[in-house]
Amino acid sequence: MRVLSGIQPSGDFLHLGNYFGAIRQQIELAGTHETLLFIADYHSMTTVRDGAKRREFTRGVALDYLACGLDPERTLLFRQSDVPEVCELAWLLSTVTPMGLLERAHAYKDRIAQGQAADHGLFAYPVLQAADILLYRADLVPVGQDQKQHIEMARDMAQRFNHAYGEDLLVVPEPFIPDDVAVVPGTDGRKMSKSYGNTISMFAPPKQVKRAVMGIVTDSTPVEDPKDTTTALFQLWSLFASEAEREELFARARAGGLGYGEVKKDLHARVNALFEPMRARRAELEARPRELEAILAEGGRRAREIGRPVLEACRRAAGLGPAPAG
Ligand code: ADP
Ligand code: TRP
Repeated sequence: MRVLSGIQPSGDFLHLGNYFGAIRQQIELAGTHETLLFIADYHSMTTVRDGAKRREFTRGVALDYLACGLDPERTLLFRQSDVPEVCELAWLLSTVTPMGLLERAHAYKDRIAQGQAADHGLFAYPVLQAADILLYRADLVPVGQDQKQHIEMARDMAQRFNHAYGEDLLVVPEPFIPDDVAVVPGTDGRKMSKSYGNTISMFAPPKQVKRAVMGIVTDSTPVEDPKDTTTALFQLWSLFASEAEREELFARARAGGLGYGEVKKDLHARVNALFEPMRARRAELEARPRELEAILAEGGRRAREIGRPVLEACRRAAGLGPAPAG
């Protein structure tokens, strides 16, 4: 079972929502599955028009994942653009992709609604994403709800291509949307998201992290009164606690006498205890750019070894290139 994930290099700091909602599971999957994880630098061209920034953001994502514990021996970590074959497969797929399918894409419609100019790259984004998945014959693609439609489109393209040129050419992938992953609340109680400015970042300067934790919105219930444990502060705190610790603290909260300040301080300590070693590791890796580059280059080389024969089979079946010998 081959599992593939792709992340856009956006230049933003990772936040607790990303870590508990996605990264931790992605890293854990490597213990039981063959895993590929690439940084979607080609895709980022639909939004970022600065080459130096793209390179910096791409390295940033690699550092984030390595710092969070991704083991490059177990997971192929690579840059999308180190396997340019993906662009050729995208072209082959585009010839079996109905316009109507792309016109219905929510992500595309949202961007246009937000005022982004409609260029072909943005429109064809799901075709390149399908190629990302199909080139490596991935079986499972862990994604958030927002990406489910793109995976369905990839399935559709694989089926159409297979139907035209040969049933086993491409693997029809399945989305993997873990339903036990809770939505991590932000400091204002809404879903934590960079677009709401309510994040607690993992690799931001420690002062900024402290400010975010101390700024978690709470009500004015006096210390001695019972507290509502479904609020953001308690839910965030729970992410860092064992079941037993949670029961104990929640019991104290319900009984009254537990102040929000105490919970915030303890949460801050727990955030630091988990992320401090990761921050240190990130800084260490950042200081050794050649090592990082070697990891990415090796990942790209191995990914290419998987992808090339898949593309080659598609080309042959589609009658591209010279006739096979014999
Ligand atoms: P943002 O909402 O900050 O823009 P992204 O959309 O870039 O975050 O999310 C990247 C990954 O992190 C996705 O897999 C998404 O499901 C996960 N994620 C983001 N925010 C949360 C959250 N608050 N709770 C759980 N998972 C989240
Ligand atoms: N579109 C995805 C996102 O914005 C990133 C992505 C690109 C991706 N190619 C992929 C995710 C292939 C999974 C598989 O999050």
